[in-house]
Order: sequence, then C-alpha cells, then structure tokens
Amino acid sequence: MSGDLTDWIGRLFRDPAMAGMGHAQRVADLNLGLGWVYYGLARLLRPRRVVVVGSYRGFAPLVLARALADNAEHGRVVFIDPSLVDDFWTDPKQVAAHFAAHGLTNIDHCRMTTQQFVASEAWRSLNDIGIVLVDGYHTEAQARFDHQAFADKLAADGCVLFHDSVRERVSRIYGADKAYTHTVKRYMDALRTDPAWQVLDLPSGDGLTIVRRAGNAP
Ligand SMILES: C[S@@+](CC[C@H](N)C(=O)[O-])C[C@H]1O[C@@H](n2cnc3c(N)ncnc32)[C@H](O)[C@@H]1O
Repeated sequence: MSGDLTDWIGRLFRDPAMAGMGHAQRVADLNLGLGWVYYGLARLLRPRRVVVVGSYRGFAPLVLARALADNAEHGRVVFIDPSLVDDFWTDPKQVAAHFAAHGLTNIDHCRMTTQQFVASEAWRSLNDIGIVLVDGYHTEAQARFDHQAFADKLAADGCVLFHDSVRERVSRIYGADKAYTHTVKRYMDALRTDPAWQVLDLPSGDGLTIVRRAGNAP
C-alpha cells in the first residue's frame, strides 16, 4: 500500500481537472466514478502492464498507476498521448513532476500517437498487457486502430476499456475549427456482432465499454 487511498483521492481532487472529462466523478464524497472500475480491475487482475491511450490531465493513468502501486508487484502504466489538446504533455520533466505530485513514478509517458507508437521498440517489447484504456481520438476508425494495436498483446485475462463509447456527440476539445463527432459507439456496435469479443456498456458519465476476448476463462 502506498498511503491512505482516501487521502490520495482528496489530494487528486484538489486539481479541478481531475473531476472532469466524463468519468462520473464526484468531489463531495471523494467518488472516483468510473475511476473505481479502473482501480478495481487493476487490483483484481494485478497486471504487470497497463496501457492508457489519451488523457486530458492524467486522471485515468494516475488512478491505474495508484492501483498498480497498491498491488506492490512493480506494475507499470504505459501512457500514450501526443499532447494534441494543448502543451500539457510536452515537457518530460513537468510530466514526471505532475505524476510525482501524486506519489507515482510508475507511469511511462510516450509523447506520440498510437500510430507512431506501434512503430516503436516500446510497442515491440510490450506483452502480457492486463488493461488497455482507450481515451484518445474518439472516432470509430481510431478506436478500431487503438484496439487492434494491442489486441494480440493482451494477457489471457486482459480487458480493453473504451471511454466516450456509449453515445455520439460533437466535441470541440481540439478547437472550434476542429469539431468532430465521437463515433466510438459505432465500433462498439461492430464488436457486439463479433463472436470473438464480449462487450459490456456502463453508461455513467460519458460512458465506458468493457471488452474482453470471448471463450473459456484462462
Ligand atoms: C483529452 S483526452 C479525452 C478526454 C475526453 N474523454 C474527451 O471528451 O475527449 C484525449 C487525448 O487523446 C490524445 N490523442 C488524440 N489523438 C490521439 C492518437 N491518435 N493517439 C494517441 N492519443 C491521441 C490527445 O492528445 C488528448 O490528450
């Protein structure tokens, strides 16, 4: 254990950005919302490796990293984000300091798109991934790309979590002139027709879909 979890959540929510971006958090009762799913799955599965694609200020990578630290099995989070919303993820020292302010040194940030990451040595050497959280560019095509990038690297009990996945809506997060429609849901609907995958929607906040390979338990 890395210190009291309730105190840690209180510290996390001192940053107002950690209560936003559609994870159904509530500051008043220190409620992580969908973060409990990220934390609980990571405690349950005890993965060696977790991958997070995209985060505004690091809520999901931080909660997952905290769970891996609490597991005390040296698990690490690979966090892929090219910093396309603003310059928050551009300076490696500031990124490390941001995570260290929350007591965490087990997040490896790669400042690149998933398309660039799959061409890297870091991608080639990744395996046995317990959780992939996809929260990057929210189109059907990118969700498919992010899924396929890691599908063959999942652990036998591994899960892929897609955020912003239960409804379509227009986002202006990349600027008013770069508005686009979230269409991750279309990829979820396609996966539902594929017997190779199990698919479960949680409609809280901006929604989360949990995807696992179908078939016998490992
Ligand atoms: C802001 S978060 C998502 C927050 C929120 N769920 C929303 O409504 O968009 C999206 C992050 O994905 C990153 N991103 C965009 N395209 C990406 C790509 N192709 N690969 C990896 N990350 C990407 C952006 O840099 C951004 O920080």
